[in-house]
Amino acid sequence: MKPNKEEDISVDQALRPGTWDAYVGQEKVRRNLHIIIEAAKKRGEAADHLLFTGPAGLGKTTLAYLVAKELDAPLKVTSGPAIEKMGDLAAVLTNLEPRGVLFIDEAHRINRMIEEVLYPAMESRKLHVMVGKGPSARTLMLDLSPFTLIAATTRENLLSQPLRSRFGATFRLGYYGGDDITKIISRSAGILGAPIDERAVTFLAKASRGTPRVANRLLRRARDYAEVHGKKIIDEEVGEKTLSLLEIDELGLEPQDRKLLEIIIKKFSGGPVGIGTLAAALSEDRGVIEDIYEPYLMTLGFLQRSAAGRIALPPAYEHLGITPRGDLL
Ligand SMILES: Nc1ncnc2c1ncn2[C@@H]1O[C@H](COP(=O)(O)OP(=O)(O)OP(=O)(O)O)[C@@H](O)[C@H]1O
Ligand SMILES: [Mg+2]
Repeated sequence: MKPNKEEDISVDQALRPGTWDAYVGQEKVRRNLHIIIEAAKKRGEAADHLLFTGPAGLGKTTLAYLVAKELDAPLKVTSGPAIEKMGDLAAVLTNLEPRGVLFIDEAHRINRMIEEVLYPAMESRKLHVMVGKGPSARTLMLDLSPFTLIAATTRENLLSQPLRSRFGATFRLGYYGGDDITKIISRSAGILGAPIDERAVTFLAKASRGTPRVANRLLRRARDYAEVHGKKIIDEEVGEKTLSLLEIDELGLEPQDRKLLEIIIKKFSGGPVGIGTLAAALSEDRGVIEDIYEPYLMTLGFLQRSAAGRIALPPAYEHLGITPRGDLL
């Protein structure tokens, strides 16, 4: 399920944990963040620059808001593609309040020229601005107030090494376990005022791809289904009907996931297949395949990335009911 549909954005916001208590799981990340935050507060300094990475919908943006809140610092939010000119970045940086937090989402899309301005700003709080043109052009150096940059990306490998190395700490979010997703669904159902029984929670959790945003979205769809069919409570049957309408199977695979595996298995005898070939065969953006489909298929043990390309693994054949020769079981 791709992010960024309008209704999902509003649901995301309503369900986004506003306190650490409501933020489920990711214990190690939380513990380490607390130490960084507490130490910075004790010293009265800005916290170190932080980088959050990991697949979409795992809580990077949520964490950035929580960190700013715990630092009791004003937060400015922008994103890589929104900073088009050096002047945009200069304006944001010079307007930050002392010890403020700047959150840059989609950091892998920051343009390289802008990055060059970011380096000295992160390292020594200096802003180099070019004034004038041609032979009379010169660089002005401005001092910035102490600030914390928090950057988030789903594509850590696309960040340049110099940028990566300027963060004081990097936190890699991983998929959530079943217990955590269960807690998230129960909490969200409470907020939405949608009665749901325990078996339905477990059922939806299993199809949530270890991803809070997906869990919340499935819950919403199940609530819609129950409402339309006059069901007072979301039970397992409502869960099953909802998934089947969405063509999502019990492991959370969607038509595109299954198609991806089927292409590798049936058209390319199980692989290896290059990502470019796969993207063309699926008519899907390569980035979406790499960011959304593949990470989850790999955690299921269905797919392997190798230097020669993608390979479908035996559990994928089994799940799809295909024998290794390509016939149906
Ligand atoms: N640890 C969590 N506990 C409870 N709910 C969570 C947690 N993490 C995320 N969520 C829920 O999932 C939604 C998506 O989280 P968030 O927007 O922070 O993800 P993201 O990692 O920034 O995704 P993207 O990479 O697409 O920007 C949030 O609105 C929130 O409701
Ligand atoms: Mg985000």
